[in-house]
Amino acid sequence: LCSKENFNYDITKLEIPSDTTLVAIINPNNPTGNEFNINENIQLIDKNPHTLFLIDEAFIEFVGGTKKSAVNLVSDYKNVIITRTFSKAFSLAGCRVGYAIANSELINYLDNINDAYPLSRSAEAAAIESLNHVDKINERVILLKRTTKDLISSLKTLGIVSFPSETFFFLIKIPYENLDADEFADRLAEHNIHVRPLHLKGLENKFIRFATSTVNNNEIVISTIKEIVEKL
Ligand SMILES: Cc1ncc(COP(=O)(O)O)c(C=O)c1O
Repeated sequence: LCSKENFNYDITKLEIPSDTTLVAIINPNNPTGNEFNINENIQLIDKNPHTLFLIDEAFIEFVGGTKKSAVNLVSDYKNVIITRTFSKAFSLAGCRVGYAIANSELINYLDNINDAYPLSRSAEAAAIESLNHVDKINERVILLKRTTKDLISSLKTLGIVSFPSETFFFLIKIPYENLDADEFADRLAEHNIHVRPLHLKGLENKFIRFATSTVNNNEIVISTIKEIVEKL
């Protein structure tokens, strides 16, 4: 991934060696927040029938949910598996509930080799109950995306440019010459604000992943950054 291309990547350019067992595509991606259009690039899956394509849709609710999901591919392709989680839009990270969608043969195989303990009854109950509140969850997704947009605008007024994202987290590049990503994160941490510097190969130490919080917390983030920048 390259900052010059806004961390976008054309998946049709993905070169898959013929003996590849598994390709994992994170859609939308983390830590960039941008999406890969798998439904319009199914030739990738067509061309590689012996490779299993795992499409991680942990954040799919933030890009229009079912409309952008690759879930419909499961009925046509035996080599596609979709994984999802209740940890993100559904806010149930503490329950540790996730699921996979694939053809029954693959699901049965995974069930047979899975030696993990089953879900706790309470976690299962919470996940099932949350499905009765999808409208409310979608409202919160919309609110969170709006709050993200506002945070991005406020950062822009401080000269901090962000990269396009479809989710509630995004990447920024620090514009200040005498401050790198690690130092910036450390200074924010002194104020109990935690952001993640990106240590990707080939990327200078200037990129940070921000996640949106509440409106109030975002205001604190902005005023804290102002304070830090004034002292530079
Ligand atoms: C892209 C992606 N997939 C999956 C997960 C797993 O989430 P969990 O283990 O909480 O279900 C995460 C967690 O951050 C993630 O970022």
